[in-house]
Amino acid sequence: MVNFLALTFLCVLFGSVADAAIVEHTFHVQNLTITRLCETRVITSINGHLPGPKIEAHEGDTIVVHVINQSPYNISIHWHGMFQRLTPWSDGPDMITQCPIQPGNRYTYRYNVTGQEGTLWWHAHVSYLRATAHGALIIRPRHGVKAYPFTRPDKEETIILGEWWNANVVDVEQEALNSGGAANISDAYTINGKPGDLYNCSEDQTHKLEVESGKIYFLRIINAALNTEFFFKVADHNFTVVAIDAGYTDPYETDTIVIAPGQTVDALMRADADPGRYYLAASPYESTIGLPFANITTRGIVEYVSNVSASSYSDSTPIMPVMPVANDSDTTYRFYTNITGLVRSNSPAVPLQVDEDMLVIYGLGLTPCRPSQTKCNATIGSIAASMNNVSFLFPTKTSLLEAFYKNEPDVYTEDFPEKPPTTFDFTNASAITNIFTAKGTKVKKVKYNSTVQVVLQNTAIIGTENHPIHLHGFNFFVLAQGLGNFNESTAVKKYNLVNPQVRNTIAVPAGGWAVIRFVANNPGIWIMHCHFDVHLPLGLAMAFEVENGPTPNDVVPPPPEDYPTC
Ligand code: C2O
Repeated sequence: MVNFLALTFLCVLFGSVADAAIVEHTFHVQNLTITRLCETRVITSINGHLPGPKIEAHEGDTIVVHVINQSPYNISIHWHGMFQRLTPWSDGPDMITQCPIQPGNRYTYRYNVTGQEGTLWWHAHVSYLRATAHGALIIRPRHGVKAYPFTRPDKEETIILGEWWNANVVDVEQEALNSGGAANISDAYTINGKPGDLYNCSEDQTHKLEVESGKIYFLRIINAALNTEFFFKVADHNFTVVAIDAGYTDPYETDTIVIAPGQTVDALMRADADPGRYYLAASPYESTIGLPFANITTRGIVEYVSNVSASSYSDSTPIMPVMPVANDSDTTYRFYTNITGLVRSNSPAVPLQVDEDMLVIYGLGLTPCRPSQTKCNATIGSIAASMNNVSFLFPTKTSLLEAFYKNEPDVYTEDFPEKPPTTFDFTNASAITNIFTAKGTKVKKVKYNSTVQVVLQNTAIIGTENHPIHLHGFNFFVLAQGLGNFNESTAVKKYNLVNPQVRNTIAVPAGGWAVIRFVANNPGIWIMHCHFDVHLPLGLAMAFEVENGPTPNDVVPPPPEDYPTC
């Protein structure tokens, strides 16, 4: 009896600790032979699946993933949107927080899931390998504590939007870098790895979602495409958006979801249409006029099933939603700007005092061809991309985080400019005189716990474009967005300091700006970059160096024993 009481007492006292689980996975990075669009290809997969394994955890759990590289390529895995507080060694971006895991080697990623719930995902963070090495990372509310802050759904479904090349994606990248030009566009868009019936030979590769009348479906939508933002619709159905980037939102009703690479959208869909078949479809949003892109729709089928009668609709022709036109920036802007964050009792408040106030202009530009670029046209130059006129160069021998930890000189410099070197009419193409960018491995050093505000300003150099900008290690508040040049005196009045969106990836309007703010409460090196894979190796990136904090609990711990070497 005494023992029983003591045990009960302990369970009550440590209930939340005892409930926390370890979620453990082994990822074998391996070749997979697969047929799409009537062509058989060898791709880099995780455990032989496309998409790869779904990781499901509860807030409070610890995730442990053993990555064993049996592929011919260097690999690293990033847990997109995970805070990685005091586990920067597990963040994953190649040459930022680690050297890649070389073929034949292995590395274990280990991190806690603290203070975030919703849909995130994981993906390779080397070359273009995330095209085929990606999967969902789902965080449910803490064991036994609280349910979702919205109508309880009957069923959930993960929908991963992707892109497929009839080519080896590592070769696609190498060819582009060698020529200094644009990378080849993909051959198909996909839903959970399947192109759908508008593509050649893909009738039997059409994703299907069976629904029952009246039930509520919780769609966890992830954009894992390399370079394409999407419109997402289901014919004759509406959505209630309840979370974005694993942050709850005020319920937002819409029939069209817009999602950029890196982003996630959690939406409820009630099966309230006439029983039948409906397409669920994703079509491209392309903000830049004249840029080549594939204007095709990937689609799957929502099929009503009934467990009462044997009636089936599998022969009826599905109804197709009317998709927005590819350059419909109005629909995009409405979706991207209208959503507000859900304020709960434990939500962090927007910090009002800013310690670091940055203006970062970014976009494409040019640099002279390098001798190694054997196919580069010397009279034009090589496409580069930059932030504040610095095109980010990835280190080659030591990762930034290792250099930070060991105080190793000559890997990076701390002079990333907090303002652009020159001010001009950023979004006016005819006002642009210099399209050449400098290069460097520069970071912005900030104090532990400082509040950082960044005005992200797109430029018209080579053409305005909507770029999804992703920050590792933190969520940020989106205070305001707009078109044209950022103007502080008018923008400040628009700042939402009450219930702004909270995101880890923001699709900044083409030729426009966004103001983001975050608290640098996680020491280490955190990259901020364009989530179009076509732009990352071109240098559309910078990194924050967040200093260690005052107590032993705010200091980057030593790297794990199996930390990869270069
Ligand atoms: Cu999902 Cu650095 O990326």
